[in-house]
Amino acid sequence: MAKGTFGVTTPIYYINAAPHLGTAYTTVAADTITRYQRMNGYDVSFVTGTDEHGQKIAETAEKNAMTPQAWCDSLAPAFTDAWKTLDIDYTNFVRTTEDRQTRAVQKFWSALHDAGWLYKSAYEGWYCVHEETYYAESDLEKNDEGEFVCPDCKRPVRYEASGEENWFFKLSEFQDRLLAFYDEHPDFIRPVTRRNEIVSFVKGGLNDLSISRSSFDWGIPVPWDEGHVFYVWADALIAYLTGIGYGDGEREAEFDGRWPIQYHFVGKDITRFHCVIWPAMLMAAGMPITHTVFGHGFLLTKGEKMSKSKGNGLMPADLVKVFGVDAYRYYFMSDVQFGHDGSISMERMVQVYNADLANTWGNLVSRVTNMTTKYFEGRVPEAPAAAAENPLREIADTLYAAYDACMAEVDFTGAAAAVQKLASRVNLYVEESAPWALAKDPARADELAGVLYNCLEAIRIIALYLAPFMPNTSAEVFRRLGLGDIAEVTDIQEATAWGQLPVSVAVEVGDPLFPRLDVDNLPEL
Ligand code: MSP
Repeated sequence: MAKGTFGVTTPIYYINAAPHLGTAYTTVAADTITRYQRMNGYDVSFVTGTDEHGQKIAETAEKNAMTPQAWCDSLAPAFTDAWKTLDIDYTNFVRTTEDRQTRAVQKFWSALHDAGWLYKSAYEGWYCVHEETYYAESDLEKNDEGEFVCPDCKRPVRYEASGEENWFFKLSEFQDRLLAFYDEHPDFIRPVTRRNEIVSFVKGGLNDLSISRSSFDWGIPVPWDEGHVFYVWADALIAYLTGIGYGDGEREAEFDGRWPIQYHFVGKDITRFHCVIWPAMLMAAGMPITHTVFGHGFLLTKGEKMSKSKGNGLMPADLVKVFGVDAYRYYFMSDVQFGHDGSISMERMVQVYNADLANTWGNLVSRVTNMTTKYFEGRVPEAPAAAAENPLREIADTLYAAYDACMAEVDFTGAAAAVQKLASRVNLYVEESAPWALAKDPARADELAGVLYNCLEAIRIIALYLAPFMPNTSAEVFRRLGLGDIAEVTDIQEATAWGQLPVSVAVEVGDPLFPRLDVDNLPEL
């Protein structure tokens, strides 16, 4: 029986460029927490996808002499392939050009239309095609030529005063309800710095939101007004619902069981859409609201935000080639504190790889399995008497509480550090107990068996806790220890209780899990 449901989403990424390290970062984080909560007994959902509508896509498709749909179809595999490379185990991938998304978007907004939350009016304003967003003049910046530029992407904006009529959502009416909601749900916006930004933004007053366009047609049609399509954000946010069955007659019960979810993981630049517009939309629809929007920081290289357009974007697959997928995932999750900006560099990646993975975890597995081969013909020796002093068990017994508390705070760095603490302690324990010396004294054979049993058992437990970060390595360690399929674990607390490693099972040594890296031949980040 599952403990309940646990749901997380990543942004629905613009399909215009293949995923870079920044978008991969959110996606790996969502995957890590989902893998953990699945092992922790929850029935999980993990929705990601691609945001495929809007003027920008239509314009790029035209430049490439393709229909927008054909253009999107040609780009979508870049996402599914990248996620495969990174072992992302999402439960639902939504492309906003799918029929189920059209049904969901039309259902959602028709209900708001019927309930009187929408009205039609002429729109004038500063528009950035790249960000697909209108800006108030007071939010704009100026470039060196004195032109108004977008505060987000710094590209020139244009004043749109076509007299075009758009549909508007009465967002301005939600100011008080949103402020009350933030007050009553202190965990809705995290980390707290983002929360403060949003609260002061909403206190400053809200404008109604234009949710349709009629100047181009690459979008989901507004069902009650021919010639209008939904604005990209009014479309993309709904994908979070579509992914778990909203608007799909056959999946209604599933949707009701899964919504609301625990987390939207988003970058800090798009928290406003998720913390202001999105909850107001859900309030208007009379639907419950996601428990937490977590706005993580940016990955920086040489002090600057990484982005493809700035040309400082190495692709995930480039790094996977050097480090392997597990080490890639481990580096980003352990070394870039979720919620803060984080500088990444090749040097640091190599440092973390060599320290935590090659020298600690990989080395531990090698030396202990080697000693098992040498001293016990490759079979798990007898466990020590229960009363024997066991410093490893002391740490292992408190690890679930420590690790789970970190995961509950989406503190991946803390969770990884808690596991590393046990791994380092096992290495120290090996030094202290010196099995090679015990092996020389036949009278101490039981002691030797006890030491190696403890080490192997600790390795089993570490593999379980590292599985959400490094699924392949943990599966391999389980295989080497002659254990079952780690992917089937659904109660990590019970599975990590001390003393479950079966005795006499054959243990395999295998190749080093993380061969030390040669720092000389690394690509530039
Ligand atoms: N399509 C919208 C989201 C709609 S969600 C209903 C969108 N797409 S995006 O492709 O631009 O997604 C960008 C995501 O990547 C954002 O969460 C953004 O913060 C993140 N990142 C882009 N560059 C980044 C870094 N350098 N570092 C970390 N994340 C960054 O916005």
